[in-house]
Amino acid sequence: MKERNPSVESPEKKAAGIAAAELVTDGMVVGLGTGSTTAYTIAELGRRVAEEGLDIIAVVTSYQSEMLAIQAGITLTSLAENPELDLAIDGADQVDAAINVIKGGGAAHTREKIVSRSAKSFVIVADEGKSSEGMDHFVPIEVLPYAKELVSKQIRELGGEPVLRLASRKDGPVISDNGNFIIDAEFGFIEDPAEMSFILSQLTGVVEHGIFTNVDEVYIGKKDGSVEITKKEV
Ligand code: A5P
Repeated sequence: MKERNPSVESPEKKAAGIAAAELVTDGMVVGLGTGSTTAYTIAELGRRVAEEGLDIIAVVTSYQSEMLAIQAGITLTSLAENPELDLAIDGADQVDAAINVIKGGGAAHTREKIVSRSAKSFVIVADEGKSSEGMDHFVPIEVLPYAKELVSKQIRELGGEPVLRLASRKDGPVISDNGNFIIDAEFGFIEDPAEMSFILSQLTGVVEHGIFTNVDEVYIGKKDGSVEITKKEV
């Protein structure tokens, strides 16, 4: 089937996405993230499979990454068959100085979190525009449709501003790959991402939120084509 791909070339994303693909070696089970940066990683892994005989299997995080992986010729598996992954590579919407990240701009963060938590190592690929000293990006929250009002109320009680994500101005809500809605919650500056992550996980009706505190390494692509790598302090 033919698909239209509207994504615009980004040298920064490309540099990060391709550099992180070098972490993948023969025999690995790899988690493939979602978004325009991970798309470069998937394409590069596909190139290595075809040209270098790289021998891997992969678990996807969305229908988007599934489509890209199939196009790239990467053999897919599932968490049911391979519950433990060697490595997961994914994008981010914001990366703070302690390499906590906010994800979910593509509404895929629930599966992305499951895949990242199933991996021995979790690597983020992003362009330099995503780097930030602290965290102040809105937090995407996947909610059960039945609970959207209740979750909105709980977000307001926490001092946040909930916005139901719409497909476009006239369309209905964005529906995740899991059949749920996305509420983007604006909290302003998030002083303690780990604490906020814990609090949001406790809300009734929340499926998963987009704060990730389990990143091991970040690859930030720069405009000049270089890539800055930051590892989690241990
Ligand atoms: C998908 O829901 C997101 O978590 C993406 O990984 C994130 O939005 C980064 O996307 P880009 O690589 O397209 O910026």
